[in-house]
Amino acid sequence: MKMTKYLDSLLTRAAQNVKTIVLPEGEDERILEAAHYVAERKAAKLIIFGKPEEIKKFYTDRNWNMEGIEVLVPEKSPKINQYASLLYELRKAKGMTLEEAEKLAVNYTFHGTLMMKAGDADGMVSGANHSTADTVRPALQIIKSAHKDRSVSSAAIMVINDKPYIFSDPAIIINPTEQEMADMALASAETAIQFGLNPKVAMLSYSTYGSGAGGMVDKVRNATKLAQELLEKSPLKGKAEIDGELQADAALDEVVAKKKAPGSKVAGHANVMIFPCLEVGNISYKLLQRFYGAEAYGPIMQGLNAPINDLSRGALVEDIIGMIAITAIQAVK
Ligand SMILES: CC(C)(COP(=O)(O)OP(=O)(O)OC[C@H]1O[C@@H](n2cnc3c(N)ncnc32)[C@H](O)[C@@H]1OP(=O)(O)O)[C@@H](O)C(=O)NCCC(=O)NCCS
Repeated sequence: MKMTKYLDSLLTRAAQNVKTIVLPEGEDERILEAAHYVAERKAAKLIIFGKPEEIKKFYTDRNWNMEGIEVLVPEKSPKINQYASLLYELRKAKGMTLEEAEKLAVNYTFHGTLMMKAGDADGMVSGANHSTADTVRPALQIIKSAHKDRSVSSAAIMVINDKPYIFSDPAIIINPTEQEMADMALASAETAIQFGLNPKVAMLSYSTYGSGAGGMVDKVRNATKLAQELLEKSPLKGKAEIDGELQADAALDEVVAKKKAPGSKVAGHANVMIFPCLEVGNISYKLLQRFYGAEAYGPIMQGLNAPINDLSRGALVEDIIGMIAITAIQAVK
C-alpha cells in the first residue's frame, strides 16, 4: 500500500469529523484491506456488507482488529421492511410496485443508498465489482441532485507534482449540453473549495477566445457564458473565477496565457478543468495517470444531496482508501 502525502492529508482531514461510510462490496479483499487502514486512522466508521464469518476471518488472519468496522447482511437487516417502504414511496410515482421495492431493498447498492436516505449512513463507496451505471443510478433516483434544477456530474481529483486539480466530467454525462457544462463548472468549483482550492475554472476547448471555430467551440463558449451568469447568482460569487473557451496550454501556462488570453483571471492559473464531453475527460485523466504516474482519485460524484462514489474496477487499495476519505469529507455539511 503506497501512502502519498495527499492521501495522508485526506485521511487526516476525514478524521476531524468522523462519518459513517457504507462499503457494499465486502466480498472483495481490496475493500477489506482499505477499510482496515481507514479504521486504523479513525478517518471513518465503516459498515461492510458481506458474510460475517469470512470477513472476520480475513481480519483475524492478519491480526487486525475490527474497531470501527461493522459487518451487515442486508437480507437479515431488521430495517429491511422500512427501507422497502421508503423505496416504494420514493419511486411509486415512477411506476415501482411494493413487490419490486422489496426485491431491490436487498440489492446491496440499493440497500446502502437507502441506508443513507434513512439517515443510517453518511456516504457510500462502491463499484470495485459493479459498473458505474449500477452505482450511480440508485444515487440519482434516491439521493438526487442537491439543486433541483442542476444536473449531477462527476470529477476526478488529479494530484500532479503534489498539486491537486479537479477534472470534470470523466464518468457521468456523456455529451453534456451547454447548460449541463455550466452546472458542471459550478459543481466543480464547489468540489474544489471542499478540497481546499481557490477555484479557477477553465472551460476547455481546442480554441482560445475564438482562435478556432466549430460547433464544439460554440458549445464551450456558450457554456462559459451560462456558467458565469450562474456564478453571479450563486453563493460562490467572489469565491471562484470561470473563463473560456481556453486551450489546455493557455489554461495552464502563464506565458501562453499572456499571448492567447490576455486579461483572463483563469488562464495560466487554472486548477479546475471542464471538458467538453465525457470522452475527452475520461481519456485525459487516464492518460495522465498512466503516462505520468499522476495520482487520480475518482470519479467522485458532485451535486448530489449526499455522497456516493464509484470505484474503478481496477482500483488499488490506496485508491479505495482515498475514495473513502473523500466521501467522508464530502459528507461534512
Ligand atoms: C449515469 C447514468 C448511468 C444515468 O443513467 P440513465 O440511463 O440516464 O438513468 P435514468 O434515465 O434511468 O435516470 C435515472 C434518474 O436519474 C436522473 N438523472 C440521470 N442523469 C442525471 C444527472 N446527470 N443529474 C441528475 N439527475 C440525473 C434521471 O432524471 C432519472 O430521475 P427519475 O427516475 O427520478 O426521473 C448514465 O448517464 C451513464 O451511463 N453514464 C455514463 C457512465 C459511464 O459509462 N461512464 C464511463 C466510465 S467511468
